Amino acid sequence: MSINYSERIPNNVDLANDRTLQRALEHWQPRFLQWWKEMGPHDSARADVYLRTAVGVDAQGWASYGAVKMPDYRWGIFLADQIPDRTIGFGDHFGEPVWQHVPGELRSQFRRIIVTQGDTEPASVEQQQRLGLTCPSLYDLRNLFQVNVEEGRHLWAMVYLLHAHFGRDGREEAEELLARHSGDVDKPRILGTFNEPISDWLSFFMFTYFTDRDGKFQLKSLAESGFDPLARTCHFMLTEEAHHMFVGETGVGRVVKRTLEVMKEIGSDDPVAVRNRGAVDLPTIQRYMNFWFTSSLDLFGSEVSSNAASSFANGIKGRPDETQYEDHVCSDAAYELETPQGRESVSLRNAMNEVMRGSYIKDCELGLKRWNMAIQRAGYDARLSLPSARFRRSIGAWVNVPTDPAGQPVSRDEYERRMPEWIPGESDRAFVHSLMQRVVEPGKMAGWIAPPDRGVNNLPVDYEYVKLN
Ligand SMILES: [Fe+2]
Ligand SMILES: [Fe+2]
Repeated sequence: MSINYSERIPNNVDLANDRTLQRALEHWQPRFLQWWKEMGPHDSARADVYLRTAVGVDAQGWASYGAVKMPDYRWGIFLADQIPDRTIGFGDHFGEPVWQHVPGELRSQFRRIIVTQGDTEPASVEQQQRLGLTCPSLYDLRNLFQVNVEEGRHLWAMVYLLHAHFGRDGREEAEELLARHSGDVDKPRILGTFNEPISDWLSFFMFTYFTDRDGKFQLKSLAESGFDPLARTCHFMLTEEAHHMFVGETGVGRVVKRTLEVMKEIGSDDPVAVRNRGAVDLPTIQRYMNFWFTSSLDLFGSEVSSNAASSFANGIKGRPDETQYEDHVCSDAAYELETPQGRESVSLRNAMNEVMRGSYIKDCELGLKRWNMAIQRAGYDARLSLPSARFRRSIGAWVNVPTDPAGQPVSRDEYERRMPEWIPGESDRAFVHSLMQRVVEPGKMAGWIAPPDRGVNNLPVDYEYVKLN
């Protein structure tokens, strides 16, 4: 049977004329669909969902909207337009022409990085599998599904690279991406955060704010890569990733907004009183933030890393927004690091993870400013804040150094005793879960979250974004 590739798999990689790639993808696609059926959004196959589909990389093509059944979603393969005469922007190969094929000696390093990135994409779909059952509105349900199909497409993006550039190893890795599962005891996902369950919508919003933002920074650094197809793939993924962070930022913002409305109604900021009125008290929001932020910080890796140095030196992975720096080679630059033993000067190349973590933290601050502004405007002194990067770390120099969220050392005993003040405990989770009731009447919102300021693609908020057949 002949397949019309631009129909079934929208792409700009000339799939119709690449027989080898066609065969590889033809073999993989049914497995992907099977995985989607088993591990994708629960009980969603019959629904008509108002989704954005990428059918090209230009301004119109990348966001074409319409109602689709998710199993029929056209997961495509898109690379951002090639930049003519592009040269490598950092490291030892600075200024040399970019590679259209993976250099043999860097093959395993590239493969590992692509597999690690690829693994996070289906992982998050698995983590979010059951959230649809407790959606606070049809608008939110649609956003969840949009994020899910796009993470599915990001998996396609990485699988394309594996199939097109890594031969048999690549095909095997592509199968493995569907064989590992989030939270699986025998075959877990590669990175810790992607094995944490996301069983309520507050976690979902924190995840899309903090963890998808880690994704943004990883993609930004890979978009600098000397391997041009990887750079172009990641470049295009970033346009979609922006929506995921929008979902996180506006999601948390709407939870805060609703909490402030309830505080005003009852004339009190007492957490118990706020909870009794069915909203999430600010200290609980802070604890959820502490959990997802610290977990996401670990994704950047150790402060000092020879792996990171070699990725940079070899032109594999640059710094996010590499052009903003003056020195792109960094062969003898130093970096001042804060360690539990005091300040330490290390080679900048070895500190690339920390450089990236620093830019990430700055980016995280922006949403907090907005949420705090809302709290201030409502007339309350409370403020949400990011915990210190030393707090609750399980990778790097601060592992096993008990500190409070401000980063001040505390005894092991105090650390363990006070942890329920700092991250969500059993009773917080039970309370948040108790709020998770499915609301699917067009325009209606669950009581713990404010409606969004506007709908999707200029449609009204009460549009029937998901028709649950
Ligand atoms: Fe993604
Ligand atoms: Fe994402």
